[in-house]
Amino acid sequence: MENSPSLFIQAFLTYLSCVPLCVSQSSSEEAAAEEAAEKLLRDTFESEKFVPDIIPEPPLEQLQVIYNGTKVPLGGLIPFDQAANRPILKWDERDAFYTIIMTDPDSPSRSDPRLSELQHWIIGNVYRRNISSGETFAEYTGPRDAREFVVEEGTHRYIISVFEQMGKQVFTERRIPRENMLFRGLFNTSKFVKEYRLRGPVAASYFTVDHEATKLIPESNATASKNARIRRILSDKNL
Ligand SMILES: *[C@@H]1O[C@H](CO)[C@@H](O)[C@H](O)[C@H]1NC(C)=O
Ligand SMILES: *[C@@H]1O[C@H](CO)[C@@H](O)[C@H](O)[C@H]1NC(C)=O
Ligand SMILES: *[C@@H]1O[C@H](CO)[C@@H](O)[C@H](O)[C@H]1NC(C)=O
Ligand SMILES: *[C@@H]1O[C@H](CO)[C@@H](O)[C@H](O)[C@H]1NC(C)=O
Repeated sequence: MENSPSLFIQAFLTYLSCVPLCVSQSSSEEAAAEEAAEKLLRDTFESEKFVPDIIPEPPLEQLQVIYNGTKVPLGGLIPFDQAANRPILKWDERDAFYTIIMTDPDSPSRSDPRLSELQHWIIGNVYRRNISSGETFAEYTGPRDAREFVVEEGTHRYIISVFEQMGKQVFTERRIPRENMLFRGLFNTSKFVKEYRLRGPVAASYFTVDHEATKLIPESNATASKNARIRRILSDKNL
């Protein structure tokens, strides 16, 4: 009983001495977690060889990719149809114009990427994060749409990168409609970035889709004849 006031004071003093320490500890923990996340992002982009094969440097931050209401984790395997329509993208935007590039470096397969990179979505002059303000070059096409035209095999990676422009600029790109696959192959993101002097990527992410899983779906006759046509074109071009 006699001890309790001093115990209380001791506890209080301990609490006081902890306040600045605990606060700085938790903010330094946050900083450490942030640093670890950035390192993981950099390491992943390097180990997947996205840097320097596809993009010139690792992204500054992970792009948030939201398909059909679900946030996709870095490298996450998603069901085929989840990526049917274009995703919502979030990044730490500034008062600037951006170019968004989504490509598949594994077409038609990771072991034989003759068509790499295959363009899935390219849009420039996007003001802040307002996609509708942008100028579309390659209209969005999902993994299933590509499979209707190209004999995609195995697991593919789809990279989405956001580059910052120096201002609103003039692009001399042809417009590729959603259903057009012929002009989508043999794209080079790094070359595009260099040509238009884009900065970054300021944010990027990637996800994976298993094309083998779709082989369970029988090829319709229309798809089969389209695939045969594409196979002919590819063999004529020696691709
Ligand atoms: C989108 O999400 C809804 C609700 O979660 C789900 O029922 C639907 O199947 C999803 N659509 C696709 C194409 O994944
Ligand atoms: C986004 O851009 C479109 C087209 O330029 C414009 O009509 C719309 O108001 C913009 N939205 C916002 C939130 O600024
Ligand atoms: C893509 O473009 C970059 C930059 O111009 C070049 O260094 C690289 O060799 C090109 N990659 C391919 C596969 O042609
Ligand atoms: C594809 O065509 C063949 C012969 O023309 C026909 O027998 C078959 O039923 C068709 N299959 C489908 C899935 O339409």
